[in-house]
Amino acid sequence: MIEKIEEILQEIENLKANSEQDIEALRIKYLSKKGIISEMMNDFRSVPAELKREIGQKMNLLKTNAQNKINALRESMQNSGQSQEILDMTRTAYPIQLGTRHPLSIVKNEIIDIFSRLGFVLADGPEVEDDWHVFSAMNFAEDHPARDMQDTFFVEAHPDIILRTHTSSVQSRVMEAGQPPIRIICPGRVYRNEAISYRAHCFFHQVEALYIDKNVSFADLKQVLLYFAKEMFGSDTKIRLRPSYFPFTEPSAEMDISCNICGGKGCPFCKGTGWVEILGCGMVDPNVLELNGIDSKQYTGYALGMGIERITNLKYQVKDLRMFSENDIRFLREFKSAN
Ligand code: DAH
Repeated sequence: MIEKIEEILQEIENLKANSEQDIEALRIKYLSKKGIISEMMNDFRSVPAELKREIGQKMNLLKTNAQNKINALRESMQNSGQSQEILDMTRTAYPIQLGTRHPLSIVKNEIIDIFSRLGFVLADGPEVEDDWHVFSAMNFAEDHPARDMQDTFFVEAHPDIILRTHTSSVQSRVMEAGQPPIRIICPGRVYRNEAISYRAHCFFHQVEALYIDKNVSFADLKQVLLYFAKEMFGSDTKIRLRPSYFPFTEPSAEMDISCNICGGKGCPFCKGTGWVEILGCGMVDPNVLELNGIDSKQYTGYALGMGIERITNLKYQVKDLRMFSENDIRFLREFKSAN
């Protein structure tokens, strides 16, 4: 019997296989209930007592070697990639579980699309900015309240380095990099030191648009605003401009649209007025042009800026701003879109 065991040990050592099926056949041949080793176990019963110990040890060795060899063959088959596991190359890839775009991205893309149709091109700038681009170059006086610690996040070791509080800083970045004509749209994240609640957050998103060329007038601005409002909220949408103040535009205005929830009749959303404010705008202050290296005698321009969360709320009536950054999958799945 010892000879037979030695023989099989040798045999096992030299086993080869070309496919998963070969390996399975070997497993059945050696290790299954009716396999060679089980049969030998049966024979083991009739081994004389004095040989039991020696033969028993060899049988155990045989069993482990066979198991190890089969495992090794399997492993090398899988590693060599020759695994014969059947891959159905004709199987359709669908249904694929697609994710959904974030509502802010959907609205951002829509805004970009509308402005691209008017010839605006994308621009961007850093979120960690310096005081110059966020404030000084945008004509903020030294003591303007927006520079106050309560609004702005400062980098502790460098009081000149801040998180931008508005995307208007990109206006300055673009102006210093090149001369008009400039026609840009810049979406991006902005930061303000606000307590987080359902209607305020320490970060949110804005889109800025800037057009500078010869003979740009307020009438051009108004037409672009009307076009934008109708494209974004439907062709029945009306706009109205109210005088306002921003350091970087003169004159400045805020734009309201007819409330798209009640159609202008008055509802809780528009507080019964029929109008909702959606953006700030104006003619670029000549000081801003000069501060950024553009000749204000030759060129004029307009700018506008809006909060993406605000526009998204109007489109989708999201009541709590915090929903936008909590990544609750049930909320996110509600937004399906083509873009
Ligand atoms: N930067 C302003 C804000 O954060 C928004 C704004 C108003 C941008 C008027 C403009 C503009 O470009 O002309 O509130």
